[in-house]
Amino acid sequence: MSLLLIAPNRDMRRWKNALLNVDSNLDVEIWPNVGNNQRVQFAVTWRHPKHVLARYPNLKAISSLGAGVNHILEDETVPEKIPLCRVVSPSLTRQMKEYVFAAVLNHQRNWLTYHRQKKQGLWQEHHHTAARDISIGVMGLGALGKPIATALATFGYQTAGWARSGKKIDGVQTFSGADELDNFLGRTSILVCLLPLTDETKGILDLDVFKKLQHPGYLINVARGDHLVEEDLIYALDKNWMAGACLDVFSEEPLPEKHPFWNRPNVMITPHISSITQPDEVAEQIADNYKRVLSGIEPEHMVDRTKGY
Ligand code: GLV
Repeated sequence: MSLLLIAPNRDMRRWKNALLNVDSNLDVEIWPNVGNNQRVQFAVTWRHPKHVLARYPNLKAISSLGAGVNHILEDETVPEKIPLCRVVSPSLTRQMKEYVFAAVLNHQRNWLTYHRQKKQGLWQEHHHTAARDISIGVMGLGALGKPIATALATFGYQTAGWARSGKKIDGVQTFSGADELDNFLGRTSILVCLLPLTDETKGILDLDVFKKLQHPGYLINVARGDHLVEEDLIYALDKNWMAGACLDVFSEEPLPEKHPFWNRPNVMITPHISSITQPDEVAEQIADNYKRVLSGIEPEHMVDRTKGY
């Protein structure tokens, strides 16, 4: 019986060592070096090449190496009956919280402007809006969105959240479903996207959204590149409906060399680093899930395929 790690372009030895530190009896293999396809019972993947997972006839469950699972759901060759799970870790939440705060504060306190001014040797003050006068809207109120909305509200921002179904969060005004989206957008100037990527949320960050936000709006996308219609953001920036954006994810990663975002002074770009799963912090969770699966028990942090998260 083996646990297979599949993450092309990543050095997975750290992951293997972290799992063996939890239990030295585990049989952990790193794709593509698989001794016997029949023995693979649990796969832990990050952007596996399509078709690969269908090669293991005795696969009992698949785990994402991260919070997102769209890379698994987008592979139509993954047998439908196989349970899917993901990792949930305080470390992922902490990192995401830090990233979102960094983005909000950099925007609020004009840091990109001061960075440009430094290059010009320019000593010039700019007004900044107080936190209590800034309306932030968090789209997606799951394992990451909910604690982040709470933290923003605690810091003093007027915070609201929007999700597909109704949620209650202390200190956060919540909206749900398509019917309440316009009201949510109309009271929001900084929009944070933490939605799962599903058929319903693909392309959700479009011109219509940028039009409806309080202007000038600001976008922080830390979910998936395909949530955003990139040309619509560029149009909205040109129209000054949007003051800028901080983007960690893109339709194509790495962001192509000639992509217009590179030359937009008000678009901050980071290479999909907002929240990175640390092997030491989730090895125990993955090893436990593997053992649960071997004993015929459902893994923890299951993904509902019908919902897509
Ligand atoms: C990162 O993008 C993740 O889904 O964990």
